[in-house]
Amino acid sequence: MAKIALFGATGTIGKRILREALDRGHHVTAVVRDPAKLADQQHQNLAVVVGDVLDPTSVTEAATGQDVLVSAVGGGQGDGPGHLATVQPSAKALVGGVRTLGDEAPRLIMVGGAGSLRTPDGKQVWDAEGLPEPVLQIMHAHGDALDFLRTVTDVRWTSLSPAALIEPGERTGVYRTDTDNLVLDAEGASRISAEDYAVALLDEIERPQHVGERFTVGY
Ligand SMILES: NC(=O)c1ccc[n+]([C@@H]2O[C@H](COP(=O)([O-])OP(=O)(O)OC[C@H]3O[C@@H](n4cnc5c(N)ncnc54)[C@H](OP(=O)(O)O)[C@@H]3O)[C@@H](O)[C@H]2O)c1
Repeated sequence: MAKIALFGATGTIGKRILREALDRGHHVTAVVRDPAKLADQQHQNLAVVVGDVLDPTSVTEAATGQDVLVSAVGGGQGDGPGHLATVQPSAKALVGGVRTLGDEAPRLIMVGGAGSLRTPDGKQVWDAEGLPEPVLQIMHAHGDALDFLRTVTDVRWTSLSPAALIEPGERTGVYRTDTDNLVLDAEGASRISAEDYAVALLDEIERPQHVGERFTVGY
């Protein structure tokens, strides 16, 4: 069983990662700003500690003694300004905090964005016409975070981009992956439930296949 520290455990995606990890018998330390938000999540394999993903010292403390550090952080209030202030800086704080542990450092897995994925026409998702400016900004914040991760060679990082549409739904346990290409279903739609996204992320923890790269998941 893995020892997993998780930032973002109170969020839409993070909650599903937490549930999937506990259901598989892993030990999870949820690192949250407000533990009261997880008061209803009692489990013998769950510890809740206080921390802030933007503080490298907090990240180092959270990462110490863990096998994997997962970050599912966003703005905490949907796609607002807090999102922009969190997504890209968190990548630097996470790498900086993990890096100080040297050979003892856990793997780092970050929830990424779909914007930079390639589409069948050779463009990227964020090139589509008509995307609202706030959405574009968040897509590019994730793109900047990924560009930064790709410069990092001394931390075992992985970024997992959701499909273009990710929302709470059914856990089917069935999904397809790609590295930099948007995964499309037979109807040409790119989607994944947050539950199946969590399945893919836990599968990657248990059977690492994408250390040092981004991959994506869809139906
Ligand atoms: N198709 C796509 O590409 C796609 C779609 C959806 C989401 N995403 C990405 O997936 C990620 C998660 O999305 P979500 O919808 O699950 O987000 P969410 O529901 O807004 O949750 C964000 C989480 O981040 C935590 N957080 C924010 N700032 C923090 C900080 N400084 N320190 C510690 N924790 C912090 C929040 O904690 P609090 O409870 O303390 O606020 C919350 O648990 C985001 O980066 C988002 O952009 C991508």
